[in-house]
Amino acid sequence: PERVFSGVQPTGNLHLGNYLGAITKFVALQDRYDCIYCVVDMHAITVWQEPEELKKTIREVTAAFIACGVDPKKNIVFNQSQVPQHAELAWIFNCVARLGWLNRMTQFKEKAGKDRENASVGLYAYPNLMAADILAYRATHVPVGDDQKQHLELTRDIAQKFNNDYATSIAAHGYGDTFFPLTEPLIAGPATRVMSLRDGSKKMSKSDPSDYSRINLSDDADAIAQKVRKAKTDPEPLPSEEEGLKGRPEAENLVGIFAALADRTRADVLGDYGGRNFSEFKAALVDLAVAQLGPIGAEMKRLTQDPSAIDAILADGSERAEAIAVETLKAVKDIVGFVRH
Ligand code: TYM
Repeated sequence: PERVFSGVQPTGNLHLGNYLGAITKFVALQDRYDCIYCVVDMHAITVWQEPEELKKTIREVTAAFIACGVDPKKNIVFNQSQVPQHAELAWIFNCVARLGWLNRMTQFKEKAGKDRENASVGLYAYPNLMAADILAYRATHVPVGDDQKQHLELTRDIAQKFNNDYATSIAAHGYGDTFFPLTEPLIAGPATRVMSLRDGSKKMSKSDPSDYSRINLSDDADAIAQKVRKAKTDPEPLPSEEEGLKGRPEAENLVGIFAALADRTRADVLGDYGGRNFSEFKAALVDLAVAQLGPIGAEMKRLTQDPSAIDAILADGSERAEAIAVETLKAVKDIVGFVRH
């Protein structure tokens, strides 16, 4: 059976990159697949989080999912720490994944920075927990932004090594040739990698010190308008064809954002705006962004005013998630050779 899983970290502000790269996909997939969407709080604490702030952010991300159109009844929406099977499976994967594999992870290198000796062990083992998130549900498809590609390759490597190492036991327990699926990433569309509004060579990120580098889902119309107007561009008018975006990262980024928000292709957008100035294009982009993000911000605000309603959604989702994950873990324990009653 096909199943979708994805996760978002509750760290700082959700932004347009999270929205276009991931959350809009979550919404689009919910009619066709059985979907599980997770607020990955255990991943968040791989770097320091203030406890009260973390609680608030977990609820904010949940509210954002719902405000963007994820239906928590049709899908499972929950937070990772309430389903202990993620941590259990992650330990087993710590014993499957090789040091050499993790040493290649570019996100660890970026996040650990120069002071690697002082990075948490959790930050290093982060991709193994991510593989556990996905494979606890034996998910077949994972919608993410481009930056998660390498982690999903690692997830496939872990699944494959587990399937190989335990092949005899997997067959002996009646699971056939393979136990874990080789999960497919879903990375598509014009905005799989949204860049900073201040620097077209840097990814839009929650941790950029400049708030002008990103559009937050909680920004109001004025903030969105200001940030788009101040977004870095070059002095040339927009090109008429995609070829003309080469070497113009800021232009490419804004055209990609426009296309994604309008649900059109870049070529299509350039067909309309080729030869026009950025001031004109930006004004249209402001209208588009405000029309789409304005109601989401307002709905997030409304939802976060009732934390207990959000907690009830997470409790319900966690119960339903655990019912699936617990079965996977029973099978994994049998396959590995643990004794259980
Ligand atoms: P996180 O919390 O950093 O980001 C959440 C989602 O947003 C996407 N994204 C972007 N897409 C386009 N442009 C950007 N500038 C941009 N920035 C972020 C991310 O690719 C992601 O899809 N490790 C994951 C969380 C995770 C996960 C999982 C994802 C934990 N377990 C299992 C999928 C499956 C992360 O840190 O995402």
